[in-house]
Amino acid sequence: MRIAALTTDLTGPVRDLMTTGEPWVRPRDPSDYWLAAALFADTCPVALADNGTVIGAAIGFRSQTHPVDVYVQDVIVHPDHRRQGIAAELIGHVRTVASAAGSKRIYLTSEPANSAAHASWLALGFTNRRGDYRDQQTGVEVVADFKGPGKDRAVYDLNLA
Ligand SMILES: CC(C)(COP(=O)(O)OP(=O)(O)OC[C@H]1O[C@@H](n2cnc3c(N)ncnc32)[C@H](O)[C@@H]1OP(=O)(O)O)[C@@H](O)C(=O)NCCC(=O)NCCS
Repeated sequence: MRIAALTTDLTGPVRDLMTTGEPWVRPRDPSDYWLAAALFADTCPVALADNGTVIGAAIGFRSQTHPVDVYVQDVIVHPDHRRQGIAAELIGHVRTVASAAGSKRIYLTSEPANSAAHASWLALGFTNRRGDYRDQQTGVEVVADFKGPGKDRAVYDLNLA
């Protein structure tokens, strides 16, 4: 397995891979992945198996408004390849790029019931940002309306040294 920056020829396979993330991750419009490959590929690492198959991906952006922040929108690892440290490698790549660019924080969100994501982010050194309430089933801190009205999210921060 190796990690590479997203390229336009990999956007189709990355979008296909996103379908394996339901219900937590859903494929976005193809042009969204083109945008990522064309404009901010260095924060969009892809995990490639030895045979070239795309088995993991993360879509991140360095904020133009707050360049100290890198936001990671989606992280996906193919179900057959989970618990092999691939998400750790993807986030590690984003972390290296973010630090080199002078950013001070990586943050991401997941849905409050996504326990695998919650466990992953904590294991990778993120902290669950204090929210407006705790999810009753998982105990995860949740920020109300974080992504707009009715779009409550658990938010995770990783401060960079
Ligand atoms: C969340 C996700 C990206 C994790 O990817 P992954 O490659 O399996 O994660 P890693 O192997 O790097 O795991 C790192 C650590 O996180 C924790 N972890 C990961 N998945 C876990 C799970 N299902 N349950 C408990 N802990 C888990 C473990 O501590 C793990 O280390 P370990 O395997 O040595 O114990 C993957 O489960 C996935 O693609 N889920 C569907 C899409 C999704 O929900 N994305 C997140 C929302 S954007």
